[in-house]
Amino acid sequence: MKSIKRIGVLTGGGDCPGLNAVIRAVVKTAINVYHSQVVGIEDGFEGLIKPGKARNLSLSDVKGILPRGGTILGTSNRGNPFAYEMEVDGKKVIKDVSDIVISNIKTLNIDTLIVIGGDGSLKISKELFEKGVPVIGVPKTIDNDISATAVTFGFDTALNTATEAIDKLHTTAESHHRVMVVEVMGRNAGWIAMESGIAGGADIILIPEIPYDIPKVCEKIMERERENKKFSIVVVAEGAKPIGGDVVTWAPPDPSGVPRLGGIAHRVGEKIGEITGKETRVTTLGHVQRGGSPTPFDRILGTRFGTAAVHLAFRRGFGRMVCLKPPDIKSVPLHEAVGVQKLVPPDGELINMAKALGICMGI
Ligand code: F6P
Repeated sequence: MKSIKRIGVLTGGGDCPGLNAVIRAVVKTAINVYHSQVVGIEDGFEGLIKPGKARNLSLSDVKGILPRGGTILGTSNRGNPFAYEMEVDGKKVIKDVSDIVISNIKTLNIDTLIVIGGDGSLKISKELFEKGVPVIGVPKTIDNDISATAVTFGFDTALNTATEAIDKLHTTAESHHRVMVVEVMGRNAGWIAMESGIAGGADIILIPEIPYDIPKVCEKIMERERENKKFSIVVVAEGAKPIGGDVVTWAPPDPSGVPRLGGIAHRVGEKIGEITGKETRVTTLGHVQRGGSPTPFDRILGTRFGTAAVHLAFRRGFGRMVCLKPPDIKSVPLHEAVGVQKLVPPDGELINMAKALGICMGI
């Protein structure tokens, strides 16, 4: 059996706070515990397709990166080796370049590849594993929509950012007697909207899991008006949609077919203004939610995942993904982890609790 001398690590898909904590933990554990080398791959899987995008990572390379947002390795959501967009004779074509990736992994003498990514990168990892690459997955996303782990790092930081924004919108909403509509990220999962809405004391929360009815939303605002509560806070997930309607996108789907969500808050805000006659303003938080220094929770979870991924590699647990099964860090096969989205259960405790507080869920 081939021993593990060199570990490759890459970050794929959208960035999120806590990625550097994982990279740091991988490098420290690999060097301190196993005396092995770590090679960092730049810009996600692109770094295994294009030349000159790999560099050795030493302990000094990861010094001071724990509190930093983003990823020191760079990332990309464009480099799917199984469906790689490239230009041939001036025309855009989609090609399977996975054999180039496999050959570059061999050339770089990588014995195990640790992929830190969301569902898309984990799917690629699963397919590479099926082609014989010894891969270990580490789940990341601010959306918290990976079902095999209790929580992903990045979510807590995004939640803090969104809650802080809602708190700030609250004071101005109250002063101006306005309706404030705030759009948060999360793709098709309503976790950021749900939890930031509860933590920020929202009056109305609209999530993808529960299509909304705009008259019901307006009814809630007017009910508050009658109770002399002259302002309202509406938190809308980017993937929310009206009953019988569709999500709002700002551009055609990305190369992997994932819709580019965004703009629903403007639709909701316009309707609210029209129907209630209330002065309404819209704020879209956007990528602010992905940035900034990770919270202590995300730093710790990222560090636990990074260390666990290296231990898993040395136990030859290839084709698996580390995950949080509280209170422990465990692992699951990649094929079980990918493609099963974790959504907010529409009749779960969180929604029922919100309803008990008088929060309108749009129906
Ligand atoms: O998955 C993380 C996420 O931030 C989603 O919440 C959002 O829909 C998407 O990525 C935005 O992607 P991009 O940065 O490619 O616009």
